[in-house]
Amino acid sequence: MEAGRARFIAFEGGEGCGKSTQAGLLAERLDAVRTREPGGTAIGAEIRGIVLAADDNGLVDRAEALLMAADRAQHVATVVRPALEQGRHVVTDRYLPSSVAYQGDGRGLGAEVVRDLSLWATEGLLPDLVVLLTVTELEARTRIGAGRDRLEKAGTDLHAAVARSYAAQAAADPDRWVVLDGGGTVAEVRARVDAAVSDRLGL
Ligand code: TYD
Repeated sequence: MEAGRARFIAFEGGEGCGKSTQAGLLAERLDAVRTREPGGTAIGAEIRGIVLAADDNGLVDRAEALLMAADRAQHVATVVRPALEQGRHVVTDRYLPSSVAYQGDGRGLGAEVVRDLSLWATEGLLPDLVVLLTVTELEARTRIGAGRDRLEKAGTDLHAAVARSYAAQAAADPDRWVVLDGGGTVAEVRARVDAAVSDRLGL
């Protein structure tokens, strides 16, 4: 892998896996642009308000998938690509694999069609590395606590499907994905993330 190129790194995992904390720590270490989906842009923040409304707002699954893709299109065009072109590394808290996991497999819209929709939205931009943090259901529940949005309130069936989807996506593209145990302290997980990023990207 050539040295010096700006890298695009995505953190993925179910709710409560600790990826937001770890995305922040890695971005700081790499002096990277830290961002997230949904909601990494002003337009994305409006979309986020609709898709993550605290109460059921009647949003249908296909509309949810299209809004996630719209958020991603805006995010890639105005934040991610410009940063990479300026030579900055980018660390995002969630990206295209979240749509495949939640809308594609979780909601049952189909992994392939949802992936294709996001590839169209982003003109084919895939991360250099996807870091998947896995935690047990019990750990996740303890970490999430009481504050829950629409998707966090969705049933355990959805969350089990999401976990299976992530595992399948990682297995299908092992050069791009690294699966790490998200259990333990922040410092312990951080050490695993740093080792993986150094091993895979030399950063
Ligand atoms: P968020 O509050 O950012 O927290 P966390 O990532 O820690 O769970 O929640 C984002 C929610 O949006 C989460 O439930 C997953 C969901 N989501 C999708 O369903 N599809 C997507 O494409 C993305 C980016 C997120």
